[in-house]
Amino acid sequence: MIVAVVPGSFDPITAGHMDIIKRVSNLYDKVIIGVVVNPSKKPLFSLEDRVKMVKEAIRDNKKIEVDSFNGLLVEFVKKHGARVIIRGLRAVSDFEHEFQMAQLNRRLNSDVETMFVMASPEYAYLSSSVVKEIAQYGGNISGLVPPNVDESLRDALA
Ligand code: PNS
Repeated sequence: MIVAVVPGSFDPITAGHMDIIKRVSNLYDKVIIGVVVNPSKKPLFSLEDRVKMVKEAIRDNKKIEVDSFNGLLVEFVKKHGARVIIRGLRAVSDFEHEFQMAQLNRRLNSDVETMFVMASPEYAYLSSSVVKEIAQYGGNISGLVPPNVDESLRDALA
């Protein structure tokens, strides 16, 4: 059984994340979404809310589980008996940071492979940050986030 981990801040989960997660869940036996406890940027949503939103968004897919982690990603991967880290790539601008993380993670645990999935073109411009910015100024974010997140964002920014 091959288990893949999709790590991230998910502040909040977007339609772009959902696209990657759905496509990856067709390839692996099990997918664990790893919500990082302390993202580098100060999150809008608490860890509990970020996990709750992911759980609601993926609830129809029995192959996917959600867990949170603090500390090293490779340790979280090991804890779940996974062998693969999945990262989405939107544009060349994502590459440098992702390349650095993949090389460091391989140095930390060479049994774990990082695999990259190209974002679908309709989501290539999407990020949690732009979604928050649009929502903050009252713009329409439907279709850019799962419906439950649309509601949570409105509540959070009200
Ligand atoms: O959604 P993000 O913010 O792009 O996700 C970044 C994440 C969570 C994948 C990255 O920050 C991470 O792996 N953090 C855990 C700490 C770690 O393992 N660092 C060493 C590898 S660079």
